[in-house]
Amino acid sequence: MKEVKNIELVEKIRELKKLKNAIILSHYYQTSDIQDIADFIGDSLALSQKAADNSADIILFAGVRFMAETAKILSPAKKVLIPDMNAGCSLADSCDPVRFKEFIRNNPGRTVVTYVNTNIDIKVLSDISCTSSNAVQIIESLPAEEKIIFGPDRNLVSYIKEMTGRDIAIWDGACHVHEDFSVEAILDLKKQYPEAKLIVHPECEPPVRMMADFTGSTAALLKFTSIDSSDEFIVATEPGIIYQMEKKNPMKKFIPAPSKNSARGCSECNFMKMITIEKIYECLKKEEPEIVIDKEVLLKARKPIVRMMKISEKIGL
Ligand code: 13P
Ligand code: SF4
Repeated sequence: MKEVKNIELVEKIRELKKLKNAIILSHYYQTSDIQDIADFIGDSLALSQKAADNSADIILFAGVRFMAETAKILSPAKKVLIPDMNAGCSLADSCDPVRFKEFIRNNPGRTVVTYVNTNIDIKVLSDISCTSSNAVQIIESLPAEEKIIFGPDRNLVSYIKEMTGRDIAIWDGACHVHEDFSVEAILDLKKQYPEAKLIVHPECEPPVRMMADFTGSTAALLKFTSIDSSDEFIVATEPGIIYQMEKKNPMKKFIPAPSKNSARGCSECNFMKMITIEKIYECLKKEEPEIVIDKEVLLKARKPIVRMMKISEKIGL
């Protein structure tokens, strides 16, 4: 019954998209039915690039709020919709603007680099943004003598520090989904699948990352599963991405990395999963909830993102 209802809704969403000249952008962590109706699926960087460069009047963002805000910042003239305004992000919320301002004050003379997984009031305080696809290259693009503040992800920054050797003052934030993968349970799984390669998002804790055969953003992980000759992969990131991995590599096996709490199975992002087909339909029909940002705030938050986009373009990312 749910399937029939979904087929009807998908048809209605398609009609509305055409009627309203709207596009749906989806992150890889969305459910498979949402990925299937999206006009574009990608990681944070690719979604930002797509948001900045399309001819739609309406962008419906199937993802979390900071992603939809980034789309609005890059396309201020367009209407940007998010099916559930409560789709937040624990990593973004781990960076309080008042305390972050104080952190900057206590570490003077440093360039403020922030992950795009931040709320808009943190972007306003930043010199340059980055995503997990370009974090290392963005840091490397800064003059060697420049000291850095990085927020909010302590795990991503430990990876960046290892890759670049730069002097970085670290904000102590994290993502609850990526910190939930268990080293012990992964080691057990490896006994069951000794040939499987472990692929890991850099938001995972260092002990998990140290075990990895490959570390990268969601898009990089997906690409790796296609170009690598292995037939089995243990995937330590939100399991929504496995749908695309299986689609692109139907003969390969993908095993979600287990959570620290065995009752939970794999670690899923409850915020990403707040978006549903039903909510997408209602959102497109009513054209709400809409992302609205004060013009002055938008212009300030735009600077670090545009700076990142220019560097990414220059280096061909
Ligand atoms: P990507 O930039 O790799 O898509 O990651 C986004 C995210 O939210 C990871 O938790
Ligand atoms: Fe935020 Fe983590 Fe969910 Fe990504 S997986 S959206 S960083 S809470």
